[in-house]
Amino acid sequence: MTQALGIDIGGTGIKGAIVDTDTGKLVSARVKIATPKSGKPDAIVKVVVELVEKLGGLPESMPVGVCFPAVVRNGKTMSAANISKEWIGLEAEALFETALGRDIHFVNDADAAGIAEVRYGAAKDVPGLVLLTTLGTGIGSALIYNGTLVPNSELGHLTIGRQDAEKGASFSAKERRHLSWRAWAKRLQRYYTHLEVLFSPDLFLVGGGVSKSHEKFLPLLKLTTPIVPAQLRNNAGILGAAALAVRQ
Ligand code: BGC
Repeated sequence: MTQALGIDIGGTGIKGAIVDTDTGKLVSARVKIATPKSGKPDAIVKVVVELVEKLGGLPESMPVGVCFPAVVRNGKTMSAANISKEWIGLEAEALFETALGRDIHFVNDADAAGIAEVRYGAAKDVPGLVLLTTLGTGIGSALIYNGTLVPNSELGHLTIGRQDAEKGASFSAKERRHLSWRAWAKRLQRYYTHLEVLFSPDLFLVGGGVSKSHEKFLPLLKLTTPIVPAQLRNNAGILGAAALAVRQ
């Protein structure tokens, strides 16, 4: 059995657990700590260290994967749509490595979720182009062709109707504007139609917390591409980060 620690840094919570990366099952409790309000690098790094301590420390040889809601290029965070701007241009991977005293694998959160769905979930053995979108505070995306990830696709930042897609169609946009499921689905229709025109994917996966209510909005969408809920829900980031850490 191969084990790795997966950590998922999000806008509201920082979650982590030890994963059996052969099966995609959690083999420890899932620890969750609220994301510090400032969202600033030092505060977040401190919580990640605390989370590892809460898990009882780690064997020296255990791989660690961390996923983060920003573009990640060569270990640097290159964007900050829903977190502190202090992350932009930061050597984030090195920052976590110094704090944890070990190498980590550092990756975008939606990319981690996509890899988890390919390894353990709804995209397992699906040939062709799979496009995962996570509908949460922002919109994250993972573009996966025949099991290979094209990183940092950032399709939540396409311009739709003169605004950033995630501003109008994320789940937080639904909540902020008190949209009914039907009204929100109209926005999603526009968004997914646009993705369909650009990519002609073989499968759309819809993740994020709201995907557990998929029957309220997915049946309202009229697309030529099959669109199904992601399977791994809240654990997708943890599982994908852990799986990538082992593969590295
Ligand atoms: C960020 C992405 C992230 C997504 C989901 C977007 O605002 O730009 O990097 O994957 O939110 O957290």
